Amino acid sequence: MKVPFVDLHPQHEEVYEELEAVFRHALHDSAFVGGQPVAAFEEAFAAYCGAAQAVTCANGTDALKLALMAAGVSAGDAVITVPNTFIATVEALTLVGAHPVFVDVEPTTYNLSPTLLEAFLVEQCRPDVDGRVIHVQTGRLVTAVLPVHLYGLPADMGPILALAHQYNLRVVEDACQAHGAFYQLNGVQKRAGALSDVAAFSFYPGKNLGAIGEGGAVVTDDGDMARRMRMWRDHGQSEKYVHISPDGWNSRLDTIQCAVLAIKLRRLDEWNGQRRQIAAWYCERLAGEERIVLPVEPAGRQHVYHLFVIRVPDREKTRQRLLEQGIAVGMHYPIPIHLQPAYCYHGWQTGDYPETETAAASILSLPMYPHLSEQQVDYVCHVLRTAV
Ligand SMILES: Cc1ncc(COP(=O)(O)O)c(C=O)c1O
Repeated sequence: MKVPFVDLHPQHEEVYEELEAVFRHALHDSAFVGGQPVAAFEEAFAAYCGAAQAVTCANGTDALKLALMAAGVSAGDAVITVPNTFIATVEALTLVGAHPVFVDVEPTTYNLSPTLLEAFLVEQCRPDVDGRVIHVQTGRLVTAVLPVHLYGLPADMGPILALAHQYNLRVVEDACQAHGAFYQLNGVQKRAGALSDVAAFSFYPGKNLGAIGEGGAVVTDDGDMARRMRMWRDHGQSEKYVHISPDGWNSRLDTIQCAVLAIKLRRLDEWNGQRRQIAAWYCERLAGEERIVLPVEPAGRQHVYHLFVIRVPDREKTRQRLLEQGIAVGMHYPIPIHLQPAYCYHGWQTGDYPETETAAASILSLPMYPHLSEQQVDYVCHVLRTAV
């Protein structure tokens, strides 16, 4: 049996006629940029997330860049984030001229540790004369925290938001892997993206909500932030040929992509439910195998399993066995950001973020997409148990 890591064919077959109609309309109207489908998807996506506004853009990296700009992160600032993430989280900081300062992750959820965040703020930062937070080692002003809801599980936002409030830091969520995930904040179930000042999503095709190409969006309750982001993504213009900001560029999301995303958004809860069912099958079948560490879903959070990530002792051997048996697997991510060549100028060393490094050496992502069958999951679990 062959088990692909992700297969997008079945989800597109499910909505094939609706997608065909999008192309027919687009060709008939010959209107490919802006228009009603963009506004309609923005409204629907904002409502889905439980936010007042959504601003679509070219991809998730641009969404992060727009979100950071809207949050007021400036060139030279330091922003707290995790070294256990996809490179784009940190790239977006570089794109706005800011500098990453890392706090390690929790070993169980792989997300930003609130305990280590507090220790970082107490031990590695000091207030300046105006009470602003200065990172002692670099002398930089810390202005924001950028937690990542990695693999589809929201970071522990309650204590993160409380610390951000105490230290007067903005919070920008990297929700690029967590469309539809829930976190219970002060007794209220909120979706990823509606937990902070502003949040970024990616619609890369393999995401839980994926375009048929590149795409991204920022969501916020703040009308002024939304207005500025709309202006920046459209060449810094307030109206046609009136350019009020030199910081703009072209990050508009195509009309066709918005129309496709609106169709898929209507299926997102169902597809996330299927992902959760698949995760439950994996957990059932792998339970009791003590050499396999399964993903966790802490109380008050709902994981949407963009990725199903386990840990195994001899990752390379296990990975090879699975590949030999026709099972495609991944590693998210094999090299922590602080050890990436692109960021070596910061002088980070092996050993600086031990939880991230330990995870990077042992994590393995199993096949996960909504249409994976129970039979395929059985096969993966059978091969995996034998392999470890
Ligand atoms: C955590 C995270 N942040 C940011 C991004 C960037 O999104 P994009 O690839 O759409 O630019 C991704 C996409 O893979 C991601 O997984």
